[in-house]
Amino acid sequence: MLKTVLIGATGVVGQQFILALQNHPWFELTSLAASSRSAGKRYGTAIKDPDGASRWFCKESPPPEVLDQTIENGDEIDPANYDIAFSALESNAARNIEPRFAASIPVVSTASAFRYEDDVPILIPGVNEDHFTLLKEEKRKRGWNGFIAPQPNCTTVGLCMTLKPIQDNFGLESIVMTSLQAISGAGRTPGVSAMDVVDNVIPFIPQEEEKVQKETLKILGRINNATIIPSDARISCTCTRVNVTDGHTETVLVVTKESSDRDGVKSAMKAFSKKLADQNLPSAPKELLTISEDPFRPQPRLDRETDDGMTTTVGRIRSDDSFERGIKYVLVSHNTKMGAAKGAVLTTEMLVKAKLI
Ligand SMILES: NC(=O)c1ccc[n+]([C@@H]2O[C@H](COP(=O)([O-])OP(=O)(O)OC[C@H]3O[C@@H](n4cnc5c(N)ncnc54)[C@H](OP(=O)(O)O)[C@@H]3O)[C@@H](O)[C@H]2O)c1
Repeated sequence: MLKTVLIGATGVVGQQFILALQNHPWFELTSLAASSRSAGKRYGTAIKDPDGASRWFCKESPPPEVLDQTIENGDEIDPANYDIAFSALESNAARNIEPRFAASIPVVSTASAFRYEDDVPILIPGVNEDHFTLLKEEKRKRGWNGFIAPQPNCTTVGLCMTLKPIQDNFGLESIVMTSLQAISGAGRTPGVSAMDVVDNVIPFIPQEEEKVQKETLKILGRINNATIIPSDARISCTCTRVNVTDGHTETVLVVTKESSDRDGVKSAMKAFSKKLADQNLPSAPKELLTISEDPFRPQPRLDRETDDGMTTTVGRIRSDDSFERGIKYVLVSHNTKMGAAKGAVLTTEMLVKAKLI
């Protein structure tokens, strides 16, 4: 068993990491860490508000043994005691804390702090394993024994997962995406105020569109001489927040480079969906993508938990005749499972298999 520490254990994503690592056959969750606000407290106490209300956000209950575990201070914990660090830190804290860990051990992170650095890949299981090789460059350049392997923004995950088979079969000329993002995507602190979001749609999420655009082109880019050449597709995103707890919905219009049609795109997605199924990875879903023929699907309430939130559901695939070679669809992807914690655990399993950990 590899010994792991979880930093940022008290937040929305940290809670999902705890579930994703519960009874994991390869990874033992040895220690939990968070800020000085939580350090020294029992986990069950640290996730309560000052008025005593529990802020456990997952639909599954917390493992009882975790509730009694004492939280350590992320600034003080010694990385040498672990084989791997999982990070669900708020991004400013990640910028300071993650390099201290990466100097000694691999860090797999959901934070954005290092996503945009040239020597750091952004990894999505099944989409860009060819970018794993950049981790060696990251170690070499920074003189670290470990590395930082960030996952993308949760909205980027479903988008890239569906674009990859289209890119490989038809090429990508232009992408237009509008998201309807769940409130859990905003995290616990500061989170989204109920007064703002109930009975409402918020048409702007600061910095989100720039992140999704930049990350998508990097993830779909190609490796050349130990750097990533971003995809040359044009991309335009509008990101909105809606009154849904978990599961991001995205409407996507793609103009392909080569001629494409609805059936061809469906076949490409179906072939891609089995990519990790036979690799004996404990967290891999049977299908990365599943296609619904029901015109009223996907819906977050009905589809986000498909294969424990690890499968992206795609529906309403159709040609868009307003464009030459236009294809449109709607997707639902679980933002804190495949879009964050369990997706990061799956990436880590792939890194172990690739002997990079
Ligand atoms: N929510 C999503 O759907 C999602 C999806 C993908 C990626 N992400 C990214 O994943 C990360 C975690 O997101 P989240 O939604 O879980 O955020 P969150 O609920 O706000 O949790 C943030 C965590 O960071 C810890 N933290 C903050 N400052 C710290 C410090 N100085 N030292 C040590 N720990 C510190 C907090 O500990 P305390 O409780 O002690 O303050 C908490 O455990 C973020 O970078 C976010 O952008 C989120």
